Amino acid sequence: MGIIIDGKKISQDIKDNLKKKILSIEEGKRKPGLAVLIVGDDPASKIYIKAKKKSCEYIGINSFEFNLSREISEEKILEIIDKLNFDEKVDGILVQLPLPKHINQEIVINRISSYKDVDCFTKINIGNLFYGFDGLKPCTPNGCIRLLKEYNIEISGKFCVIVGRSNIVGKPLSIMLTENNATVCLVHSKTLNLKTICKTADILISAVGKKNMITDDMVKQGSVIIDVGINRDEDGNITGDVDYKNVEKIAGYITPVPGSVGPMTIAMLMENTFYAYLNKK
Ligand code: GUN
Repeated sequence: MGIIIDGKKISQDIKDNLKKKILSIEEGKRKPGLAVLIVGDDPASKIYIKAKKKSCEYIGINSFEFNLSREISEEKILEIIDKLNFDEKVDGILVQLPLPKHINQEIVINRISSYKDVDCFTKINIGNLFYGFDGLKPCTPNGCIRLLKEYNIEISGKFCVIVGRSNIVGKPLSIMLTENNATVCLVHSKTLNLKTICKTADILISAVGKKNMITDDMVKQGSVIIDVGINRDEDGNITGDVDYKNVEKIAGYITPVPGSVGPMTIAMLMENTFYAYLNKK
């Protein structure tokens, strides 16, 4: 049986630590602020936003929520972002994705000031990440790396296979693992011999969004399995990409879904907001 990586506990510790730091901000001084824009009423987005808001409240970060109509124009969103970029009370700006089709996601995201881009989605921040410069780090990849470090799992020299090449997880994670001296292989839907490659991984990270994508015959005995996927099964229950029941038996370490990478993403968002706040001062 693999060791269960308890991201819930680690994220709670991170949040408690931030809460303490924010509590120690001098009386009368401004607290950190996070602005969240949500366009339309995508049910999954609403769940994420609720969790983010709850964490802000717990930690003591002021949250400013903008629930925008599905029909809103791109210009109007850009106007709101322009205002938030200059708003002294706001340290972080997050535009929840996906956006409706009539809105150009790239233009909207890149309108956010790189100093307030707590998702690390802008071209400037992704560029900084690529060069290995200090700065805001993308939340889910950063959460994965933090989990490995908290469990003292060696990354340096290890063969890491990432399944899924998204801009939010797979691609930035490949850069971050490389920065940590891992040997990285990024595989995707067009990869030949996917199973064979996965089976050689010391650390296997799946970020696809497909239930049972990773089965026990794709996993090396004793390896580390990080499941970034969030899917719903036939009964509406949340499951990851990994066939947990069977993979758990051969993995050295494994993250459950829900309750590991998900909470870490939010904890990293909170850390980024605090980092942006400190940097502004
Ligand atoms: N939609 C799904 N995941 C994310 C995320 O990490 N950030 C934002 N802004 N939108 C998302």
